Amino acid sequence: MAAIATTATSAASPTHRSFSFPCSPPPPSLTPLPFPRRGCAVSIHSKNIRIRNPRSKGLRRVECLAREPLKVMISGAPASGKGTQCEMIVEKYGLVHISTGDLLRAEVSSGSEVGMKAKEYMESGRLVPDEVVTEMVIARLSQPDAKEKGWLLDGYPRSPAQAQSLEKLKIRPDVFIILDVPDEILIDRCVGRRLDPLTGKIYHLKNFPPETEDISARLITRSDDTEEKVKSRLETYKKNAEVIFSTYMDLLTKVDGNRPKEVIFEEIDSLLQRICEGKLAPVKSIDLKLGSSSQDNWRGIPTRLNNIPHSREIREYFYEDVLQATQRAVQDKRFRLKVEINIPELNPEMDVYRIGTLMELVRTLALSFADDGKHVKVCVQGSMGEGALAGMPLQLAGTRRILDYMDWGDYGAKGTFINIGSIGAKEVDEHDDIFILMAPQNAVGNCIIDDMKAMTDAAGDRPVILINPRLKDLPGSSGIMQTMGRDKRLEYTASFESCYSFRLLYYAGTQYPIMGALRMSYPYRYELYKRLDEPSGKEKYVIVATFPKQPTIDEVNDAFQGKPRNKEKTASGGIWGFLSGIF
Ligand code: AP5
Repeated sequence: MAAIATTATSAASPTHRSFSFPCSPPPPSLTPLPFPRRGCAVSIHSKNIRIRNPRSKGLRRVECLAREPLKVMISGAPASGKGTQCEMIVEKYGLVHISTGDLLRAEVSSGSEVGMKAKEYMESGRLVPDEVVTEMVIARLSQPDAKEKGWLLDGYPRSPAQAQSLEKLKIRPDVFIILDVPDEILIDRCVGRRLDPLTGKIYHLKNFPPETEDISARLITRSDDTEEKVKSRLETYKKNAEVIFSTYMDLLTKVDGNRPKEVIFEEIDSLLQRICEGKLAPVKSIDLKLGSSSQDNWRGIPTRLNNIPHSREIREYFYEDVLQATQRAVQDKRFRLKVEINIPELNPEMDVYRIGTLMELVRTLALSFADDGKHVKVCVQGSMGEGALAGMPLQLAGTRRILDYMDWGDYGAKGTFINIGSIGAKEVDEHDDIFILMAPQNAVGNCIIDDMKAMTDAAGDRPVILINPRLKDLPGSSGIMQTMGRDKRLEYTASFESCYSFRLLYYAGTQYPIMGALRMSYPYRYELYKRLDEPSGKEKYVIVATFPKQPTIDEVNDAFQGKPRNKEKTASGGIWGFLSGIF
């Protein structure tokens, strides 16, 4: 065995993932989605959007039905888990897996001329010369099965020259996945890796030990899996990564590879499903008639967000987006929810802030829940404090009255299914099913949280939805921060689960141009998007990374720059700032 030092004498076959190529099992035809799609008929009224009969549920196919086969590149440091994820991707999507490491190892094993050339490089942990690898990859990509089934390119391109070779041939993937794993974990993974020469399956002595003693006895170790060689491979990877990533900037998705392999795959799977559906029906960024009842057919971030005031089309797009997320969360019996939507018109720190937009959003939510037969209480806080300290936040002044006068549709919903109230325990009536609290916030020196707490306690297990709350403690007029019970209040506000979050990203200290956006729609992950201008002048948003919880500014900066997560941070704040500054 050339490039492979065996720990078992019986190993006679080519090893590692060599056998998985090019044959892969067909994808299973039916698998339930984690969240069933809801069959919603969307009707647009003059002032709002209603979703009717969101009841029917169903299963959907997971196979990629796209007209064009799926093309995926997967990259990551040595032992970041590319091979492990590829096994799962191939099993589900039936793509042709092209691993340059496997191809080269097979050449070395067969003693071919290419193998003879490659052997020395591989054993020392260096890259095999570009021309050798590129020729192999291009030949493999041009075979009919890769064209028909789609491909999964693993470990290529690995140098700027390799990336350029593909670019020249206009070979581009649909997505470029980067598995992100801290260095210290990589070394442990390599040193503990073992391969089954019979099945090509990848094991790890600690993480994924072999199932039986027979398998254990035949496992082999790769000759480049020593600590010293891994360090050198890692160095080479880091040296080239930035340039390669910049070639695929508009297609990058960074995935946290330091989690259980099934969890990682779940994220990749959901990404690939979205791509498959996108290929089937590329949709305009705004087209309300199509409707959108789940993340899987979400139409992407609308463009022209810096044209403010926003058009009705843009406003209605976001009302619907918030509505979908909120309905999913309520359906899942989530009771303490918050919506944070910071498009310019809903961001009080911008001079285009419009309370009317917020009221329209609240009306859309309330009418939709009322349509489902729920009694909705829409609440706006009244005056807080006493004597000289009495007052309320300026932004909310007069809103209660305007809400009363708003057009609530021709169906007599207001006064029956929808009622307007303020914030406090006494507002909770027995027949109320759901409470929507419009922009609850502290006024200088006064804290709304105690009233909110009393109200939510009285609401029990009925949903309470905060829309754009601003609940950080504020100093009193004397400049003194109210400290009594502060911890308890903060703990309480944190108990509300985000069901929708959207904010635009700008270069620190500016509000133009938009650099990207961060979006979360229950029950999905936070998605970081980068805004790009196409040569035609059109703008578009491409996904750069996803996060299980709201990322920090540093994490956003790193993802934008394609840096590994654990990299030492630069000056505080980074170069990207969030417009609202709430983070
Ligand atoms: P190649 O085989 O591609 O090696 P690599 O990129 O270094 O990647 P690995 O195969 O080591 O790791 P992996 O990311 O697939 O991780 P795995 O899933 O096995 O290339 C080898 C050599 O060929 C190169 O050094 C170079 O010389 C040459 N070469 C290849 N392509 C080239 C190119 N384009 N140009 C020039 N030369 C090229 O997982 C690793 C371990 O971790 C396993 O034990 C696994 O069980 C475990 N593990 C996986 N996922 C998890 C998880 N989530 N949690 C815990 N453990 C996990």
